Amino acid sequence: MASLTVRRLDEGLKKALRLRAARSGRSVEDEVRTILRSAVAESPRDARTSAREQRTPPSPPPTPSRRVLLVIGGGIAAYKSLDLIRRLKERGLALRCILTRAATHFVTPLAAGALVGERVFTDLFDPAHEFDVGHIRLARETDLAVVAPATADLLAKLAGGHADDLATAVLLATEAKILLAPAMNPRMWAHRATQRNLARLLADGAALVGPNEGEMAEAGERGPGRMAEPVEIADAVMRLLAERVAPVLANTRVLVTSGPTHEPIDPVRYIANRSSGKQGHAIAHAAARAGADVILVSGPVNLPDPPGVTTVHVETARDMLRAVERALPVDVAIFAAAVADWRVDNAGRQKMKKIPGGEAPTLALKENPDILASVARRTAQRPRLVIGFAAETENITANARAKLARKGCDWIVANDVSPHTGVMGGDRNRVSLVTADGVEAWPLQSKEEVAAKLIARIADTLAVPA
Ligand code: C5P
Repeated sequence: MASLTVRRLDEGLKKALRLRAARSGRSVEDEVRTILRSAVAESPRDARTSAREQRTPPSPPPTPSRRVLLVIGGGIAAYKSLDLIRRLKERGLALRCILTRAATHFVTPLAAGALVGERVFTDLFDPAHEFDVGHIRLARETDLAVVAPATADLLAKLAGGHADDLATAVLLATEAKILLAPAMNPRMWAHRATQRNLARLLADGAALVGPNEGEMAEAGERGPGRMAEPVEIADAVMRLLAERVAPVLANTRVLVTSGPTHEPIDPVRYIANRSSGKQGHAIAHAAARAGADVILVSGPVNLPDPPGVTTVHVETARDMLRAVERALPVDVAIFAAAVADWRVDNAGRQKMKKIPGGEAPTLALKENPDILASVARRTAQRPRLVIGFAAETENITANARAKLARKGCDWIVANDVSPHTGVMGGDRNRVSLVTADGVEAWPLQSKEEVAAKLIARIADTLAVPA
């Protein structure tokens, strides 16, 4: 019996397969089996297919979805949202529109509906609307929700999880990303309550466009608070839709370590390194966007926790090992952290005192546990794919190959962190992927692009039966 290697199929077919599999909640392998089974089951009937049926063109391949839900809030900037409707339609998007009750004081449902090309939705308790397109369908059947204008009141309601009208109920129920285009008086924008609500919403994964600075509707008022221009909002919509990723890692548990570790010398001093955590955090975020259940074990970094990820904060290598072991079992483990190789064995319980004219203390270093190697060499609960990083300053590939063997992992992502590359702490990375099959040099790209490419490779590999 011939065997089929999904990895060898062309990219378009693999993508379509992954999409189908994600939609039906099956693994790619199961999806292929389902397709083959139904093809075999249908074949006797196919032989009898009438000439008319044979002429029926095959259904078109799945295209990326572009359904946008526009929520118009109640502010003077609502008049600009009519132009926004036009801009979104021009870009070929399938648009639905909700007007809050306050928005209907600024624009009419009739005007908005005429531009959208179908009636707009206004009230949670309208029995006619609930009958055909209920709020759950509005929430589910969208790829991106845009709130424009996002008033101070709407931001507060969303941050608090309110759902007392159609707009807020839909925004609470949707799993789609939410793009906020705030518009309000500069003093309301600057108020700590508004900024707190905004920070909450961004931490929950919302995206922001604007507000811009300039003249306000009220005479003599200037400052930040003007809604972004419709073209700017439409461009942000297109960018976010392009970033959407097929849930290729649905039903997959992924563990990522990121950032440096801090190894105490005494209660106030520690040994650290220059890792920013940007690459590890980008990988965790990319995995979550691809539908994985992600646990990020992060050393001390100056980065927000990635949205949609369970983040565990640790300080030392030994804390990191404990957190990693607690996170098992996982399907994939990616060790991007720059773990300190040594800790101070004679760390002071109290702050070490400088004795004028006295001798400087000698630090006795002790090797830290190798977290990557300990997981890669497990016999029980070994992840299907264990990936290490190799930050090198010379002989990158040769060292990475040696590391692959020494640590017992499946892949090494090797990068050149020599000072001239600016990789440590920078936003770009040039890596090579080292596997048992060979070395692949990837071009210089953003750390987000490296993350997305790595996640796509992982999804491809997991799609192949073990
Ligand atoms: O040996 P080296 O530090 O170069 O190995 C780097 C890889 O090993 C990285 O993936 C890093 O996260 C991991 N590592 C680890 N525990 C250590 C040292 C490194 O998990 N103690």
